[in-house]
Amino acid sequence: MVKKKACIFISGSGTNLKSIIKSTRDYNFPINIELVISNKKTAKGINYAKKYSIPYQTITDKKKFEHFALRIIRLKKIQIICLAGFMRVLSKDFVRKFKGKIINIHPSLLPKFKGLDTFNRVLKAKEKFTGCTVHFVNEKLDNGKIIIKKKIAINKFFDEKELKNSVQILEYKAYSEAIRKIYSFS
Ligand code: GRF
Repeated sequence: MVKKKACIFISGSGTNLKSIIKSTRDYNFPINIELVISNKKTAKGINYAKKYSIPYQTITDKKKFEHFALRIIRLKKIQIICLAGFMRVLSKDFVRKFKGKIINIHPSLLPKFKGLDTFNRVLKAKEKFTGCTVHFVNEKLDNGKIIIKKKIAINKFFDEKELKNSVQILEYKAYSEAIRKIYSFS
């Protein structure tokens, strides 16, 4: 099996990155992580790239981010970009260049609760269920075609932190499943 070359974009703790790295150890997993790009120097997730000897770049300059990212992505012949806690909205131009090749994970059952501060809003809305969604990225925020959703019941005693922990455990499964799913027909 020829694995697709993937780049993971991160901004923070990188626990989704870590779980994808673990999945890539499986011979049958369809992607290999060739590059990690962070827009934050302090992103803890960079440590996973270091630990597992994955090439990484930090590009902190807002204006130059896409230009530099594009250059290295092309150089490395990246075939899929996975946004994993990447806290910046990509330009329409960038998204068009990689149409159908950028995926993202969002900590809600989309189309519900797009955008930031998700867990707090879910709790305030007294939802009975929540979850996470892996979707293709298009020009609109958290709006592209859904690949996979995973759902959990909300324990009414949960605070924001507990809810986040539960959803994130779900995310780790969802992201790798979604990656397997998009390549299962090709
Ligand atoms: C995740 O909850 C993801 O849904 C959201 O940002 C968080 C990233 O966590 N987009 P991590 O950096 O993967 O630990």
